[in-house]
Amino acid sequence: MAMALNLLSPSTHRHLPFSSEKPPRSSPFPLPNHRALCFPLSPRSASSRSCARDAALLARAVKQEEEQAQPVELDETQTPKSPQSSSKLVLVVGGTGGVGQLIVASLLSRKIKSRLLLRDPSKAVSLFGEQVDDILEVRKGDTRNPNDLDPAIFEGVTHVICCTGTTAFPSKRWEGDNTPERVDWEGIRNLVMALPRTLSRFVLVSSVGVTKYNELPWSIMNLFGVLKFKKMGEDFVRNSGIPYTIIRAGRLTDGPYTSYDLNTLLKATAGERRAVVVSQGDKLVGEVSRLVVAEACIQALDIDFTEGQIYEINSVKGEGPGSNTEKWRELFRAAQIS
Ligand SMILES: NC(=O)c1ccc[n+]([C@@H]2O[C@H](COP(=O)([O-])OP(=O)(O)OC[C@H]3O[C@@H](n4cnc5c(N)ncnc54)[C@H](OP(=O)(O)O)[C@@H]3O)[C@@H](O)[C@H]2O)c1
Repeated sequence: MAMALNLLSPSTHRHLPFSSEKPPRSSPFPLPNHRALCFPLSPRSASSRSCARDAALLARAVKQEEEQAQPVELDETQTPKSPQSSSKLVLVVGGTGGVGQLIVASLLSRKIKSRLLLRDPSKAVSLFGEQVDDILEVRKGDTRNPNDLDPAIFEGVTHVICCTGTTAFPSKRWEGDNTPERVDWEGIRNLVMALPRTLSRFVLVSSVGVTKYNELPWSIMNLFGVLKFKKMGEDFVRNSGIPYTIIRAGRLTDGPYTSYDLNTLLKATAGERRAVVVSQGDKLVGEVSRLVVAEACIQALDIDFTEGQIYEINSVKGEGPGSNTEKWRELFRAAQIS
């Protein structure tokens, strides 16, 4: 095993998903067994004020991304289907993660009602600052524990975006048995089984390479099963009868924004990798900005023909679609044709 791990030199794993360069994160801790517990976001402490500043920065990062896009011009035959105006209630699972934070911040900036399912609800206050209850709600739950996935969590929910994950290789984040098998397979299965049949869309963030986990170089990344378990999770979603879209990300870049470091955040917003490559058939390798993955998930909620589809996504240097729905429609459509 040690020899196999040594294969993960920077040059070997440059194009594999799951960077090994993640900054340290707070270690997960065991949670008491609980039922759906509502946790309104109304911080009162002084420390939350500095967190609110970070939340404002995060929101600004997302806003800048949105401003990159040209306004959508619609002719008379087109119906505006902007994610900015909707009666959606989006449940985000994994909203404290690198991609998840950006999804939540983006939904907030679009004034789309969101509900977060978090193992530690207090993280929502530190990440997103003070939010009124009717725009952002938080429920406590661990996807590994079916008893946590109380039907009340899904009440009124129209769409779900799931971007949970753990590290591909043993780390502190595996503490308490939070392994790929438990999170990427069992957690996804539990979540999907608990979803209401009335759901309009379930968007799952997965990974490129899941169909090739027995082949080099993917088999290296899969030493502890992450790609295999993600594929099992995907398959469960596909066979569930729930309307779904799966977004397979390349190796994630930019963020995660969990370090509360201003420079890190500003560097990410100045990123040049805004152009987006979308494909199907697990053919893509390469990298993708977390900002782009977050936007792809939000756009997929509203684009009807992405239902029942699996896409791989990369981002490259150049101007991108930003939050322009028409450009995203073109990208997803072109991927299905090619
Ligand atoms: N890193 C890469 O290069 C790469 C490449 C391709 C695909 N992906 C996948 O892309 C997705 C997003 O990646 P990311 O970097 O944004 O993830 P991340 O920063 O590792 O965040 C993971 C999220 O999942 C949550 N989570 C973990 N275990 C959970 C559990 N048992 N119950 C409920 N929530 C749980 C975490 O919550 P806590 O705050 O409670 O820990 C966190 O919000 C993941 O599925 C990842 O595997 C990653």
